[in-house]
Amino acid sequence: MTELKNDRFLRALLRRPVDRTPVWMMRQAGRYLPEYRATRKEAGSFLDLCKNAELACEVTMQPLRRYPMDAAILFSDILTVPDALGLGLYFEEGEGPRFRKTVRSTADLEGLNSIVADDDLGYVMNALRTIRRELNGQVPLIGFSGSPWTLATYMVEGGSSKDFVNIKTMAYDQPELMHQLLSLLADAVADYLSAQVRAGAQALQIFDTWGGSLSAAGYKEFSLKYMQRVISRLPAEAEGRKLPVIVFTKGGGQWLNAIAESGAQAVGIDWTTDIAVARDLVGNRVALQGNMDPSMLFASPAKIREEVALILAGYGHGSGHVFNLGHGITPGVNPDHVTAFVDAVQELSPQYHQAD
Ligand code: CP3
Repeated sequence: MTELKNDRFLRALLRRPVDRTPVWMMRQAGRYLPEYRATRKEAGSFLDLCKNAELACEVTMQPLRRYPMDAAILFSDILTVPDALGLGLYFEEGEGPRFRKTVRSTADLEGLNSIVADDDLGYVMNALRTIRRELNGQVPLIGFSGSPWTLATYMVEGGSSKDFVNIKTMAYDQPELMHQLLSLLADAVADYLSAQVRAGAQALQIFDTWGGSLSAAGYKEFSLKYMQRVISRLPAEAEGRKLPVIVFTKGGGQWLNAIAESGAQAVGIDWTTDIAVARDLVGNRVALQGNMDPSMLFASPAKIREEVALILAGYGHGSGHVFNLGHGITPGVNPDHVTAFVDAVQELSPQYHQAD
């Protein structure tokens, strides 16, 4: 394996000393970049782009050519797993993801394909291997999956949802069926993420985008518990280093104390949480990732810099912070504003790491 030239992202996740705060952005490869839109057009559709290793590699590299990011993230989607399970993923222009089939009964559950990630999601593993070759040790590569709960929301609802009526009906009215589906997904996600590590992922992120739609008790029962199960089954090391896992529950700011006990090395926080309060809560248990409001990128470069300064000061001195947005970057952001964001982290963060 090629030696890693920049490992400050992996070091910060394990709360080891760094020279400055590492930075990357959720959805850093995406529609705000004109070169992404061109490659996507060439691929034909978003799913074709995910399934073509060369093009998936190309869009993964695009943000790294523009910005000195400290990590690359696999270009793919969380919905590849339900697709492999047989639900038939497609994207309706302007309406987000949709499934041809949903899971709402025992019969639906029993009709799902049993999958082996190395085979049924082999295109994701090909993309990872291609990206690792292309990165040539420049920065670490992040693999990812949706959380069992978040994947289940799409599978039960059949697409995006505002009120989660169908999955909450299942969770509260047919808890046994809900737990069967979540167990099946925890198995699939653990297999999928382990395969990603074998294919070259050096850190993992679990996207629990909809965990925050649950009550405090519901979150522990239906989301956190299954993420814990996934994490407990992952390899402890990758390429001779401890493998860091990041759990990101959007809207999970009130439950940080419990999330810090999930077994993950790092916790992603959205912008509704004060990072200083979050650090006080989690103490030395986990690193934190986040948490600028993605919409702040619509403000002026000077304002973006001020906001970065506030978040850095909020976290304070020492390692254990990975700078990021509090959720994915929004299409329509001016790519030059991302330059202001990344430059601000680079320029303003070394003062928090002196004599570390
Ligand atoms: O971070 C990265 O750069 C890696 C790529 C990545 C994508 N999706 C690419 C993508 C990652 C990590 C994801 C995760 C994902 N996908 C999540 C969890 C993170 C989050 O944002 O909460 C979720 C919920 C999905 C499901 C999904 N995929 C939705 C809701 C959409 C539609 C979004 C929209 O605005 O239309 C997608 C499509 C998608 N995934 C795009 C990208 C770049 C846009 C596709 C396109 O039109 O080109």
